[in-house]
Amino acid sequence: MKIDVLTIFPEFFGAVFDFGIIRRAKLAEIVEINIYDLRSFATDKHRKTDDTPFGGGDGMVLKCEPIFNAIERIVGTCERENYPEKTRVVLLSPQGKPLKQAIAKSFADEANHIILICGRYEGIDERVNETLITDEISIGDYVLSGGEPAAIVVSDAIVRLLPNALSSETSAVNDSFTENLLDFPHYTQPRDFRGMEVPEVLLSGNHAEIEKWRKQKALEKTRNFRSDLLD
Ligand code: ADE
Repeated sequence: MKIDVLTIFPEFFGAVFDFGIIRRAKLAEIVEINIYDLRSFATDKHRKTDDTPFGGGDGMVLKCEPIFNAIERIVGTCERENYPEKTRVVLLSPQGKPLKQAIAKSFADEANHIILICGRYEGIDERVNETLITDEISIGDYVLSGGEPAAIVVSDAIVRLLPNALSSETSAVNDSFTENLLDFPHYTQPRDFRGMEVPEVLLSGNHAEIEKWRKQKALEKTRNFRSDLLD
């Protein structure tokens, strides 16, 4: 899988992809992640990536040209219908489809090249949407200053689902949301911490009982905190 991020703040990404599962996936060549500075695709002498909106109004709008240039260079074409089959060009914006585990899974399963475009300011020239974008994703119903944190979230959610990214195959299967349930509670040493004891069943060695208990707790948590998932 290749993930290319287009941003006007490349430094924002610093070392975020150099830890834990993503770092391991990069080292194992399960994923390659590249950060591109949109400014480097601007051709005017000031390398402008944004401008004032036609029709007036506050704020600045990300210009088409650097984004079209970048997609042309990275994908080889600016025509969506000519993108290679497993290529997705994703705009991160609050107007997008809310990110869900199932969406991350479909990207992990069906794409091999994902270009994440980080929106900024008041928005992005609509011609980018009309022509280049295959998917528009939001990470939640709130407004960030830009798509950069969302690009990190989306990348993380996808990479951990790639084959062999996790050390144990079962880890992702048991994740919260995989079955529309929150995760069950976990405990580790010590058995007694300041008088708070680990539930007896987890120490019983009875795997069927442990399974039953975990399922029940996952259901309880989901009912208490995210009953919408059970609808
Ligand atoms: N850019 C600004 N807000 C966003 C959000 N909620 N999700 C994705 N990208 C965004």
